[in-house]
Amino acid sequence: MPNTQQSTDAIVLLKADHKEIRKTFADFEKAGDGAEKTKQRLVDKMIELLTVHTYIENEVMYPRVRALLPDLEDDILESYEEHHVADVLVMELSAMKPSDERFDAKTTVLIENVEHHMTEEEDEWFPKVRAGLGRKQLQEIGAEMIDKRKKAPRRPSQPSALKKVVKAVVD
Ligand SMILES: [Fe+2]
Ligand SMILES: [Fe+2]
Repeated sequence: MPNTQQSTDAIVLLKADHKEIRKTFADFEKAGDGAEKTKQRLVDKMIELLTVHTYIENEVMYPRVRALLPDLEDDILESYEEHHVADVLVMELSAMKPSDERFDAKTTVLIENVEHHMTEEEDEWFPKVRAGLGRKQLQEIGAEMIDKRKKAPRRPSQPSALKKVVKAVVD
């Protein structure tokens, strides 16, 4: 079979996202202390990739797997919590600029959190999902994610409201 079919496999798609996210993390870590423009560009990219990825996992992958494999519910609930922490950091970061004292620190904590979560998905969760679901089901879930991606938000929903809160706390 040509591997065009394999390209909609849900796990393959999510791993490709993880790879792209890791690339922006590595690039950020390589950027020099003063490289504010570069760091802003990379954080913008990170925010977009993470917002889209979180959306398709939360809207499609997690609920579908939860319904098909109820035994994996605890893992999924933990994932929602880890995503929540990342969402908070992303929202705060989206309201900051590289010259802010805590910009690098917050980005580093975001990177550490997301790295941990992606590694757990890849090393522990995806193998369980692949063992539990058939190839056809994974392709259907993947196709649904491709479709959902078109409607995914690219930025956190209310950064401007949050900007005021962050400013009030920081100032
Ligand atoms: Fe996730
Ligand atoms: Fe993921």
